[in-house]
Amino acid sequence: MNHHPTALPVVTVKMLRDPDALRRMCEAGAVHHVDMSGREPGWILTGHETAAEVLVDPRLRGDAPQAKGPEKELPDEEDLFFLPGEQHARLRRMISRQLTPRRVSGLLPRIQREADTLLDAMPVDEPADFIAAFSRPFPVAVLCELLGVPEEGRSYVRDYVFGWIAEAGVATAVTESAGVVMADYFKELIARRRAAPQADLISAIAHEAPNDVLSAVRLLLVAGHRPVTRLLTDGVELLLGRWDELVAGPSRLDATVEELLRVITPTTLSSRYVRQDVEIGGVTVPEGGGVHCALAAVNRDPARFSDPDSFVPDRPVNPHLSFGLGHRHCLGAALARAQARLAIDTLVDRFPRMRLATDQGPAPVRAGTRRLMVVLDSGDPT
Ligand code: HEM
Repeated sequence: MNHHPTALPVVTVKMLRDPDALRRMCEAGAVHHVDMSGREPGWILTGHETAAEVLVDPRLRGDAPQAKGPEKELPDEEDLFFLPGEQHARLRRMISRQLTPRRVSGLLPRIQREADTLLDAMPVDEPADFIAAFSRPFPVAVLCELLGVPEEGRSYVRDYVFGWIAEAGVATAVTESAGVVMADYFKELIARRRAAPQADLISAIAHEAPNDVLSAVRLLLVAGHRPVTRLLTDGVELLLGRWDELVAGPSRLDATVEELLRVITPTTLSSRYVRQDVEIGGVTVPEGGGVHCALAAVNRDPARFSDPDSFVPDRPVNPHLSFGLGHRHCLGAALARAQARLAIDTLVDRFPRMRLATDQGPAPVRAGTRRLMVVLDSGDPT
């Protein structure tokens, strides 16, 4: 059989976010052997049932077969998700023990304060870019609260995170500039918290091996902002089309956020690698093969969701897989849900007449430069 990549259909990141392209793939089957344009060939899953089985299957692992060798002090960002099994398991244990529902609810007053501070700084009654003013800085501020980064250290985090976003697509390696500066800052902060613990997450893990603590902090920073920004940006854009409904009865906010997670699907792929030959949906995937769940397709699988392309905020059941599933399931799901609910609730409460600006300005020229122009309107007579 010919396994040469050129013989396979090419799948791009853009296609993995395009509902029409995904529907066509879905109709053609649930398992697709493809050329991942630039990465090693792999298998894309588009069916909900197959994806849900694969993500929890112990014969498939989260670390890529090439993730080997000595443990580096500063692995590159993308590699942090695919660290060798043992190291990854240590980080995951460390984070999951501390990123508990209790810690998330304890953070709510600070998350509220961060949301209010950003909204206070936005102009009212005139167009403003919601992404620059809110959906990008907010998740980063929340991460700083979670980790316990004091005010004077936040610029290191922002420079790094926003610099990295701006370069999305041509991601700068961590070993360059802002990544190194940030890592140096965190090494010092971790040492300070080890000596004098506070109530934050860094203090709670500071006694672990120094490389692991630094990797855990960086993993949280890398994993914990972009999908939230996307959820808030696309979510607010969608909800502004039906703002009055929310203003009239925001009580079903939980279900609304779940439906936003389904239709927006902020993270494109959830990946596993095969430890031994395994049959998936009638297709044999050989040892070492990468199996990638196209979450946007899975979340619109007509076999699982009725009327999958419509936004139905009161869906009675909503088993979307936007946070993945199984032994790699998103560790920040509770925090992500909490901040999305709080942000939407605060916007509805403070700006009942918020709307999209009529003029959205020029189309973005490259990734990271998109804008979402909105008008905050308190509805108060002036
Ligand atoms: C709407 C927001 C978010 C979405 C849609 C999202 C989605 C995901 C997905 C799909 C995965 C991979 C799961 C898998 O392969 O089974 C993941 C992993 C992860 N997420 Fe999230 N995430 C979000 C927010 C966050 C936040 C706020 C944090 C941290 C505070 C976070 C931390 C992580 C970490 C640490 C992992 C890696 C888990 C591992 O490798 O075992 N995420 N996330």
